[in-house]
Amino acid sequence: MQKVYLDNAATTKVSHEVLTEMLPAFNEVFGNPNSLHSFGREALNLVDKARDRVAAGINAERGEIYFTSGGTEANDWALLGLAMANKAKGNHIITSQIEHHSVLESCKRLENLGFEVTYLPVDETGLVDIAELLHCINQKTILVSVMAANNEIGTIQNLKTIAKIAHEKDVIFHTDAVQALGSFKIDVKDLDVDAMSISGHKIHAPKGVGALYVKKGVKIDNLIVGGGQEKGKRGGTLNLASIVGFGKAVETTVRDYTINNKKLKSLRDYFVSRVKEEIEHINVNGHNHQRLPGLASISFNFIEGESLMLLLDMAGVAVSTGSACSSGDLQTSHVLKAIGLAPEVAQGTIRFSFGTNNTKEEIDYVIEVLKKNVAKLRQMSPLKAKRVRK
Ligand SMILES: Cc1ncc(COP(=O)(O)O)c(C=O)c1O
Repeated sequence: MQKVYLDNAATTKVSHEVLTEMLPAFNEVFGNPNSLHSFGREALNLVDKARDRVAAGINAERGEIYFTSGGTEANDWALLGLAMANKAKGNHIITSQIEHHSVLESCKRLENLGFEVTYLPVDETGLVDIAELLHCINQKTILVSVMAANNEIGTIQNLKTIAKIAHEKDVIFHTDAVQALGSFKIDVKDLDVDAMSISGHKIHAPKGVGALYVKKGVKIDNLIVGGGQEKGKRGGTLNLASIVGFGKAVETTVRDYTINNKKLKSLRDYFVSRVKEEIEHINVNGHNHQRLPGLASISFNFIEGESLMLLLDMAGVAVSTGSACSSGDLQTSHVLKAIGLAPEVAQGTIRFSFGTNNTKEEIDYVIEVLKKNVAKLRQMSPLKAKRVRK
């Protein structure tokens, strides 16, 4: 059976270049970077090189990069650490309704600790309501956290505008750039962000490694104490091989992003135009052009996305749903709800996320499988029957 992977926003394959760079760090240069002997020093050189590569990829300084276990940890740390370290100034935090759960759940924790959180609404394309940001930012606000690009619909936010508004009020600005890294040029100085979360496995590094960028001079509480690693802020023996891989992945992603994104956009646009031509009653979610090049979120009316996802999986095609069905409750995605999709439309939403290894032939195959299975599900759909009877 043909297998087609269209779930690169969930995770990506480790690239050959990254793997080659990592291999010696398992059994040749295997020292603990904290050890003072030559084995330790050799390992530390690799960590330094990786840190330099990550820093160079986002135009930061080496000392502003703290390695973490990934984007979730970086987001949790940013929200909790920045809020706690700056609470003397105020207790108000601003984020958006469409953030990743790691940001939203951290905000809930902060609310339980007595902080006030404003969740900014977004328009139907997923762009944060700037007027609302201007309206609610106040003397007590200490942190604004808005993601660079959304993981479900791909909308890219106007980060510079948001940073400017935050800084005019002397408020710290954090962004979750996990999906954005590699999709467009991220220059922390130009964007003027104070803290930024990134992750390895979305850019062909292994899972379980990422980083938090914290601008020099910005106060943040320690995350893990004991051990003294990462300048005492995030203790624990460093994940050497993964950090080496992450450094290489940032370097290659930034090096190749123009050519890769052109390819991704052309594959995505070809796919979307064929879906529009060949399947009726669909809508494409997210911003028309301010959108990740390799992502398409499509709602197939009258069907349940999870059933479609499973049928596609049986035909070898891997995608994600925009909604999750848990313990018998149909839970609509908070992102699709925030952009105003009706629950029954949100339920029929699938996220297709392309990789540079995908081919036009694979997309042709996916279109055939999609057409067949959408038609099959619609035949049995009570929603469709109801509409026909009307
Ligand atoms: C926007 C966004 N933020 C954070 C994360 C979490 O990153 P990680 O999987 O590295 O913990 C993800 C993962 O899907 C994401 O898409």
